[in-house]
Amino acid sequence: MLSGKKVLLGVTGSIAAYKATYIVRHLIKAGAEVKVILTPAARDFVTPLTLSTLSKNPVLWEYFDPKDEEGKWNNHVDLGLWADLILIAPATSNTLSKMAAGTCDNLLMGVYMSAKCPVYFAPAMDLDMYRHPSTHGNIAKLQSYGNIFIPSESGELASGLVGEGRMAEPENIVDFVQDHLKKQARLYGKKVLVNAGPTHEPIDPVRFIGNHSSGKMGVALAEAACDEGAEVTLALGPGSVRPGREEINVIDITTALEMNEVCENEFPSSDIAILAAAIADYRPLDPAGEKIKKSGNKLVLELVENPDILAGLGQKKSEKQFLAGFALETNNAVENARKKLNKKNCDLIVLNSPSDKGTGFGYDTNEVILISRNESERKLSLKNKKELAKEILDHIISSISL
Ligand code: PMT
Repeated sequence: MLSGKKVLLGVTGSIAAYKATYIVRHLIKAGAEVKVILTPAARDFVTPLTLSTLSKNPVLWEYFDPKDEEGKWNNHVDLGLWADLILIAPATSNTLSKMAAGTCDNLLMGVYMSAKCPVYFAPAMDLDMYRHPSTHGNIAKLQSYGNIFIPSESGELASGLVGEGRMAEPENIVDFVQDHLKKQARLYGKKVLVNAGPTHEPIDPVRFIGNHSSGKMGVALAEAACDEGAEVTLALGPGSVRPGREEINVIDITTALEMNEVCENEFPSSDIAILAAAIADYRPLDPAGEKIKKSGNKLVLELVENPDILAGLGQKKSEKQFLAGFALETNNAVENARKKLNKKNCDLIVLNSPSDKGTGFGYDTNEVILISRNESERKLSLKNKKELAKEILDHIISSISL
């Protein structure tokens, strides 16, 4: 959920500030881009050098650097708008009170007040401070503003006392944020089936009939669905790429028959299915058990038709399910794609061409036309398959009532 997200980490003056270094590491590991802002008091607990080394970004704590001869300043509004989310951890009792009252006396508070993104806060203080009614009041007020409270944990405190108030462990904070983002995501609670890559139809133990699909388009779609919070199953043929999200349930297949079995099994429990794989239409009827030797004569292979997986799912599709297929067409593209949409009972056909430059098999880019049931056609111009996958998924999400 944090992959590619811009996270602004606000660190305030608590002994727990040293743990901010671990928060940065976990955020970076989760794929986020991180900028850190310290309050002036936080600098007594953790050095900007440590945090800038880990975050790979300059660490900020003041509007103006008096030593900067060019008079540049850190624009709190730009920083607030840059962030996809703000995480204030540790958040001291003093900072909670300022956030609740709108006291804007340092850079972090200026950014907090200017931001439009979600703000998470993880308090850290001694147990009596944590129990104090004013702390409870401030936390409740911040929640009423829409800020998201990451509860403190119980344990040994810096004072030597034992109880609640300890900042949640860095790993738990990052898990909390990921989990929260997931629950907010548009496809949370939905199951998405994607297929990708080629199929290999064996001729003998060392040869096969295949095609040039790399799997990039389908894998990008599976990742985009995962980033939208869906539970994703990816039936993946023997291409050259694998998804970069651990949460995706990858089922490796080799042949069209294996792909068919996985899709048939998974489709009934799926809300959305997107079939981007390039499935061989034919397979050798009787693959040789041993490597076929040269004989000096012609070799004739008898082929039989593979099941049309998309059409099979289209027949079983319920009204609540959304089925999208791809079409790879060389002539009368739109007309043929629309025929496929109707014949295979799909809700959407994503039409692409193997002959245009930068589109189709193997490329990192693609250009498509989305053909929907309501006669509408929408062109998505040439772009990276990952960006394109997000746009295709946006289209699907806006076409269904979630
Ligand atoms: O993997 P990449 O290198 O990134 O390339 C992406 C891609 C070009 C493979 C992809 O964008 C694409 O076009 N996939 C579908 C290719 C294809 O087989 O098109 P088709 O027009 O032959 O098939 C139409 C639809 O029926 C497709 O959804 C296909 O998955 C499905 N089909 C086809 C044959 C079959 N036996 N069963 C099927 O389900």
